[in-house]
Amino acid sequence: MNLESSSAWKQANAYFKKIKDSKITGFLDEARLKDFTFEFNGIYFDFSKHRIDATLLHYLIEVAKEMQLNSGIDAMFKGEIINKTEQRAVLHTALRQQTTSPVIVKGHNIIPDIKETDERIKTFVNQVINKQWKGYTGKPITDVVNIGIGGSDLGPKMVIHALKDFRTPLKMHFLSNIDPFQLDNLLQQIDLETTLFLVVSKSFSTQETLTNAQNIQQIYIEAFGKEAVAHHFVSVTTQVEKARLFGIPNNNVFPMWDWVGGRYSLWSPAGLAIPLAIGYDNFIALKQGAYAMDQHFKETDLKNNLPVLAALLTLLYNNLYQFETEAYIPYADKLLFLPDFLQQLMMESNGKSVGLDNKKVSWQTGNIIWGNTGTNAQHSFFQLLHQGTKIVPVNFIAERTNKSTNFSGNHKILLANMIAQAEALMTGEYNEIPYKNFEGNRPSTTILFDEISPESLGSLLAYFEHQTFVEAWLWQINAFDQFGVELGKKLAKNVLSDINDTSKSLGHDVSTNALIERIRT
Ligand code: F6P
Repeated sequence: MNLESSSAWKQANAYFKKIKDSKITGFLDEARLKDFTFEFNGIYFDFSKHRIDATLLHYLIEVAKEMQLNSGIDAMFKGEIINKTEQRAVLHTALRQQTTSPVIVKGHNIIPDIKETDERIKTFVNQVINKQWKGYTGKPITDVVNIGIGGSDLGPKMVIHALKDFRTPLKMHFLSNIDPFQLDNLLQQIDLETTLFLVVSKSFSTQETLTNAQNIQQIYIEAFGKEAVAHHFVSVTTQVEKARLFGIPNNNVFPMWDWVGGRYSLWSPAGLAIPLAIGYDNFIALKQGAYAMDQHFKETDLKNNLPVLAALLTLLYNNLYQFETEAYIPYADKLLFLPDFLQQLMMESNGKSVGLDNKKVSWQTGNIIWGNTGTNAQHSFFQLLHQGTKIVPVNFIAERTNKSTNFSGNHKILLANMIAQAEALMTGEYNEIPYKNFEGNRPSTTILFDEISPESLGSLLAYFEHQTFVEAWLWQINAFDQFGVELGKKLAKNVLSDINDTSKSLGHDVSTNALIERIRT
């Protein structure tokens, strides 16, 4: 079954043609507000400002039913091999499971492994936070650097920034890019004697991460000798042996498992920076929040299921209205890195054009995810959102309460702007002068936290993960592989060797050859 063969999808298409020009404001009344808004774990979701009525939503839910979404959800939670191209289970949900019910992967219950690793994490982070873990010269750790990229960077960085109100005294740094500008800059900020490095790489083969880690390791060896490495380097990887060969002793290596994808891994030891930054108990609260959303996703009927509704809205805009992009605009500086995180989560997961049947799909898949914080964004790209030829569904995200006692008025200004933008996009404003006219009817979701806490943030992040999974299921693609990143990595190795070996004659196309020549000189 796929979108083309689904009879509910045909009905949805036919009905869509009838209502596609209807005004959102025409749908909006108290009854709709009740049906399209939800409270979950301290978060208010408002889906009422969308170009969909109850009938079209009904058809889209029928599509999900016809495509047996529920069996897909079950298969994921049970640990079936749903990542078929890599022959892997997909079990980020097991990492936050709050019960001891077994989850079996290839005949082995993984829950005790997760609990044991969590205990190791707890002991380790408490040692560091309580100043019992000492650097080589006997001083306690003051700074932690996460060396990693993609899923080994974006999740932890986003969460730690979002939970600034819950921080331990440790100073956190992130080194992701291979641009030496970042490394130089980092080295100016830290004291080698009191810094701990987390080398986070699921594959332990990522060029950027390994090169940066090697550069820093060399600095330690030159300054203090080889023995210093064990005091300052910890690793998280599925490749324990590679980490050992790299010089990180086994005791300093936290395992990762192939059943957790990089972009879904902040709940695993790959998120080790998180408990260091906010304490172990808050890390557990983050997982508890995610678990609550997991339970909701698993057990709630499709009509009231938050990640399912979010995914159906993506289907509506991507595949019926044919809008190509979706914006995520946090009106909360705490969520500054959320759009970056969502870009990897959604675009690396669903940017695929071959379906589960290994054939090219004939429908649109992953749309383009982008965004930045408000109100800044209002003064840069909101012009296009209001009057451009493209329609961009927007996800507004904010926090209702405010911890800054001194400037609570500013927070109200922030929220007033967000609410007004959603209203303006929807209602528009008629003006007989065309360039002053606002057509309106531009859709948005509003997500309002009571407070951004470890638990509520955990729930929202799990919501986005499950939304991504549902979208992939409806598009019949595998959300959990990423073969599209490989070709560039392979060619970069050839190009690097061509840049370094100036005696080699170049065999690329003329444009590429010319660029390499410029770097060589
Ligand atoms: O190149 C893409 C990617 O493989 C991502 O999927 C992953 O999150 C990132 O690189 C980092 O990978 P690793 O954790 O193996 O270093």
